[in-house]
Amino acid sequence: MYHGQLDPFPRNFLWGAASAAYQIEGGWDAEGKGPSIWDQFTKIPGKTFEGTNGDVAVDHYHRYKEDVALMAEMGLKAYRFSVAWSRILPEGAGEVNEAGLQFYENLIDELRAHQIEPVLTLYHWDIPQALQDKYNGWESRKAIDDFDHYARILFDRFKDKVKYWVSFNEQNVFTALGYRWQAHPPNVSDVKRMFEANHIINLANAKAIQSFRELVPNGQIGPSFGYGPMYSFDCAPDNVLAALNGEEFQNHWWLDVYVHGKYPKVTFKQLDRLGIAPTIEASDEVLLQAARPDFLGVNYYHGGTVRANEIECPIQENEQELEKDFQATDPYLMKPKDEQAQTPETSMFTSVSNPHLETTKWGWEIDPVGIRIALRRLQNRYDLPMMVTENGLGAYDELKADKTIDDDYRIQYLKDHVVELQKAITDGVELIGYCAWSFTDLLSWLNGYQKRYGFVYIDRDEKDEQELERIPKKSYYWYKEVIETNGSDL
Ligand code: BG6
Repeated sequence: MYHGQLDPFPRNFLWGAASAAYQIEGGWDAEGKGPSIWDQFTKIPGKTFEGTNGDVAVDHYHRYKEDVALMAEMGLKAYRFSVAWSRILPEGAGEVNEAGLQFYENLIDELRAHQIEPVLTLYHWDIPQALQDKYNGWESRKAIDDFDHYARILFDRFKDKVKYWVSFNEQNVFTALGYRWQAHPPNVSDVKRMFEANHIINLANAKAIQSFRELVPNGQIGPSFGYGPMYSFDCAPDNVLAALNGEEFQNHWWLDVYVHGKYPKVTFKQLDRLGIAPTIEASDEVLLQAARPDFLGVNYYHGGTVRANEIECPIQENEQELEKDFQATDPYLMKPKDEQAQTPETSMFTSVSNPHLETTKWGWEIDPVGIRIALRRLQNRYDLPMMVTENGLGAYDELKADKTIDDDYRIQYLKDHVVELQKAITDGVELIGYCAWSFTDLLSWLNGYQKRYGFVYIDRDEKDEQELERIPKKSYYWYKEVIETNGSDL
């Protein structure tokens, strides 16, 4: 549809890379930091790969200057990072820990000194443990004001230094894994509690955006959503309808609230019937509707494929190989351990494998065209500028004896996705930037240090921190050139 002629990337396109506090910083109790729910959860035996945790991670807290120097050398235009709430407010509320604020100020100053645009995420999954203990964290409406208080401290301090802000990272992922699948803290398995907590987080997001309007009038804020486009397995109308259900349940359920301040009707009715819809108070909609974001952050790894639900359209014997082995392959689309359990999905759709797509070593589908489909769908429905705030390949990397890492597979993956971005821009999508996941290797929440994403190798493994040496991979030099040429020579 673009007749072979692609538009160039916009002149000020933000070529970036991303990270999250718990996954890189270490210094888990340094200079007054309080524990977050992740500091506690990773110590529960059996929860993470080989018991890995972020106590030291890649020690970015102490080596941020070295990391920023590598970013500058690469020519990075933007760097997305998150702030650890419990570094700023060790108890979640109350006394501010100036040393924590100063750390982020130093990081931001260092980035700006190298003309790297900071993209600051307020919440990447690490609510202070103190608030979890005090009132069950996101399950209490008290968290709305505490989050707002925390956000206001950052808005106030960094309003003149940070233009782009991300409110919540992948709310769909951390609520599902934390409250439904017991795979993340707070280690709960109760879908009703998940939808209640999720609603409270929506309110916290809206309130913080309202404060942002007051304190940072020239900045831009939006959530980063973990978006995966849902595909119909084929053109049978029942399957097409199932894909519509999937898109609404997995995506619009969150995005409609962010952008329009309203839950999608069909999914709400379905959850209500099952007795698991969130409790909505009279004033909630007013708050939700007053908080339209400035842009949408899009985290894209893969989508999902569905067919009609198994009750009305049982899977035929010759189709069985299509059934997904979720537990083994994909933490984001898990299935209840009790096969008979009724779930909200049961009557809406059944997930199946996509026979057209290869998968990574961790079973994640590799689907570059999906990023174009994602951006097109989001542009159509929400009509906001977008920034890809995460996209990348988790892989085993080999550090060779001559200290090089030939990650051609990562280059291929990123290149294929960037080409699709350019096609999306050519289609008419308003894209302001692309932050690959991740800049350095980092702790994969549940997979330790073996599943690597970075442009920069960190010489450590699960057992041994070693010297934490930073070694640019082949993909580092590839991305450097992409940035230098503004994507004109992919
Ligand atoms: C995203 C998260 O869901 O996926 C990141 O925002 C995370 O924090 C990334 O690291 C990759 O996930 P994983 O499980 O492969 O580390």
